Amino acid sequence: MTKILEIMNASPVIPVLSFKSAEEAVQVCRALYGAGLKVLEITLRHESGLAAIAAVKKDLPADAVVGAGTVLTPEIAKNAKEAGAAFGVSPGFTEELAKAVKELDWPFLPGVATLSEAMQAKEWGFTELKFFPAAVSGGPAFLKAVGSVLPELTFCPTGGISSDTAEDYRSLPNVVTVGGSWLTPRGIDGEIHLNLDLD
Ligand code: 3PG
Repeated sequence: MTKILEIMNASPVIPVLSFKSAEEAVQVCRALYGAGLKVLEITLRHESGLAAIAAVKKDLPADAVVGAGTVLTPEIAKNAKEAGAAFGVSPGFTEELAKAVKELDWPFLPGVATLSEAMQAKEWGFTELKFFPAAVSGGPAFLKAVGSVLPELTFCPTGGISSDTAEDYRSLPNVVTVGGSWLTPRGIDGEIHLNLDLD
């Protein structure tokens, strides 16, 4: 899969994952893949992020699509691509990052939360965007309004979404998938306990 839209279309939910270790990543991603979730976003918020991406990519069947989340800088983008991430996701949008991912020729989903950011991303050629943080930035009503002025943009809303609200977003014409961490909550024991409630 080379286009970000193809990747988004491959799954109605993209789990946003944070792991303490590569071992934990492999264990959890095996279970998610087994439940039919083939597009996985592993965030780079922990030291083990890049190792987790490499280990999961090696472990899962070839049709799994393992991407990197929390891509904040050109250097992180380069490292994530080198670790084998099939795509990258950023919570925001900067020109420096846009330029870098274009040069890397790497499927990328920049984050936006306002009309101006969406227009700027479009100027850079990004027509698929993460809407983040979705719930506190206006939720489905915001995306409905964006759709009336920028109908050529397609979104993956993320941030504060749960199985109760996922369909409110997905039923919009400019949304193809939603992202979220609700499938992999960490308990007070510090471990991830899967919640495979998809919608
Ligand atoms: C992200 O990085 O996309 C968010 O942390 C995911 O948001 P959520 O934890 O509210 O689902």
